[in-house]
Amino acid sequence: MKKLLFLLCAVWTASATDAAAQRQLIDIHTDDVSLILRAAPGEEVQLLHFGGRIEDPAPLMAYESYRHPGHNTEDVAYPTFGGRNYHEAALRATHVDGDLNTELKYLSHETQRLADENVTRTTIHTTDAVQAFDVDLVYTAYARENVITTHAEIRNREKGTVILHSFYSSALPLRAEKYLLTHLHGAWTHEAQVEHTLLTHGSKSISSIRGVRTTHAENPSFMLTLGSDRFDEVSGEVVAGTLAWSGNFRLNFELDECQVLNILAGINPEGSEYRLHRGETFTTPEMIYTHSFEGAGGASRNLHDWGRNYGIWNGHTPTPTLLNSWEGAAFRFNARILTDMIDDAAAMGLEMFVLDDGWFGNKYPRNNDKAGLGDWEVNREKLPEGIDYIASYAHDKGLKFGIWIEPEMVNPKSELAEKHPDWIVRTPKREAPLTRNQLLLDLSNPEVQDFVFGVFDRTMQLSEHIDYIKWDANRCANSIGSSYQADDEQAHFWIEYTQGLYKVMERIRAKYPDVLIQACASGGGRVEYGALKYFDEVWTSDNTEALTRARIQYGTSLFYPALVMASHVSVTPNLQTGNVTPLKFRFDIACAGRMGMELQPKHMTEEERAEARRAIEAYKEYRDIVMQGDLYRIGTPYDEDGCYAIAYVAKDKRRAVVFAYSLRYQSRTVPVFRIPGLDPATQYTIREMNIDKPRYWFEGRSFNGELLERAGINPNFSRIYDSAVFLLEAGDGR
Ligand code: DGJ
Repeated sequence: MKKLLFLLCAVWTASATDAAAQRQLIDIHTDDVSLILRAAPGEEVQLLHFGGRIEDPAPLMAYESYRHPGHNTEDVAYPTFGGRNYHEAALRATHVDGDLNTELKYLSHETQRLADENVTRTTIHTTDAVQAFDVDLVYTAYARENVITTHAEIRNREKGTVILHSFYSSALPLRAEKYLLTHLHGAWTHEAQVEHTLLTHGSKSISSIRGVRTTHAENPSFMLTLGSDRFDEVSGEVVAGTLAWSGNFRLNFELDECQVLNILAGINPEGSEYRLHRGETFTTPEMIYTHSFEGAGGASRNLHDWGRNYGIWNGHTPTPTLLNSWEGAAFRFNARILTDMIDDAAAMGLEMFVLDDGWFGNKYPRNNDKAGLGDWEVNREKLPEGIDYIASYAHDKGLKFGIWIEPEMVNPKSELAEKHPDWIVRTPKREAPLTRNQLLLDLSNPEVQDFVFGVFDRTMQLSEHIDYIKWDANRCANSIGSSYQADDEQAHFWIEYTQGLYKVMERIRAKYPDVLIQACASGGGRVEYGALKYFDEVWTSDNTEALTRARIQYGTSLFYPALVMASHVSVTPNLQTGNVTPLKFRFDIACAGRMGMELQPKHMTEEERAEARRAIEAYKEYRDIVMQGDLYRIGTPYDEDGCYAIAYVAKDKRRAVVFAYSLRYQSRTVPVFRIPGLDPATQYTIREMNIDKPRYWFEGRSFNGELLERAGINPNFSRIYDSAVFLLEAGDGR
């Protein structure tokens, strides 16, 4: 017996030594960020470093974690349930023979440079120690943007169906003294509120189980400030992540007894068991990470660059300025009301008119939100002239034309619901709960996918002048049940709904690559990079009130560029908050994103129209910087002093635009805004935009970037809602 034991030990030591000898580092990096893994055949893949770029990681080959194998596992690239893992698992599966354990061992890896030379992809192949079950870990590095994205491909080669209980996109262990988590929370008309939490031991998670319209309450994005309990815009080490998935998500932050923060990000496993049949591969959504030593600002700029270059359908052409009919006309319009709105929009210098909800339904006319959804024929009573008449009218006036659809939904009072009750998400024997008087269509069903594609396609055929579609989605999924899914695969609905949406969007984009499409979901319910892969922009919130909007846009800007942030000027008292703000303040807030208007221009005075014309004209002069420039946030709209500013600096640093706001009464304090991101040696001439006559001593003067960053500018703000927009251009002023 002793002999046998000795022999076994000897074999084990020999194979451990062999494995050690075959160990190699997998060095995935961008210009400034490194992700270093270590692997050997038959061993788990370890994740040694994610953070600042390490030019020569070779010495890490000898890295020792000093973890006792019985106490805690190493920091692995994709922890699984089973073996010696004590953390929440990135992957939990029940194998065909009932085995609950999965232990992924390294097989091989390869790295390829993609056709776009800026991008390299590393695929690490792993397999279970005993089951015919493989996982590929795929890391894609975007050099200039300093972004690394990651997903997993899970393959079943067993002799039957494997049940996947959890199947995250990625796991990321981080090591720091402290972890300050920053994330977004909120509600309808109150999206993207920023919250900071110093993580303590145990788990904290951010998630959604709403299926559709998932980002009102939480957003699948986070920032972590490492080693500090202070959120800093300018300096400090920050890791940021955001998940590209429009369905249920979960980001879990587990701080363990070794002070390691284990991050899991991906599809929410809650109620989402997935039966992976023999021979099938499940591909998880993409998780997008960046790292910066330039604080939150640096992390945001990386994500914005990545979004514009890779993450957004068309990240380089902004949606035009527009007038949307919703808050101005709601369901009450006819052709005359719309053409008058188009005339007014043209007169103010706007570039597009968007006809919102209410244009369809005949048997059940869409005169309120109780009927008609699903019946996408033009309402003959309201618009006997048809959509082409309105679209052509807009085009004749030099405006583009857009139209609203909500193709995933149905009112019970509709011809569609009468014809296709089987397409509705509901469980037999249970009442389907209504939200906004409507139900959800089962997009996991290919027939419904065809229908939804058809709605888009037929809407596009209503006129050759349709340039923009506002795609709305006004309810979540709940009490789910799918007549398409098998009884034992009902839980697949959660995933296949979102996959169904993407299949439809693929078809739409193949046929209509240039049409602009906005993702709206009761405002900011679809603000995430899964949707943005197909959509050009998002409707940031149904709250169009400028003061609260300052916070919504600030939160959104942590992860998403201004290019996608539709932001409209509306009436006062505001329809959502009742607040009254000056028109200039409303424009100065809206112009920091993709500006539009959403009101009945007939109700504006001549002075207000003139003011709008001035603001729109000014916006056109600098919007390229807002859309494509680097964002520097100066303070926050949460700061007690009520002083907040945003600077967008053009990539060549020759121009910048600064939006400055007073969000409370300043009394005798004159705010100072120091402007980062400029070239210290360049002379910039300052011109205040959207104003009739000069107001401040620095108007028309020129200052170098160093002075502007160190001394700043001090617009003489006093009242709440004082605001200013400054254009800084390289070249001498007075
Ligand atoms: C919700 C959207 O967020 C609004 O902008 C508007 O389109 C309404 N739906 C129309 O029903």
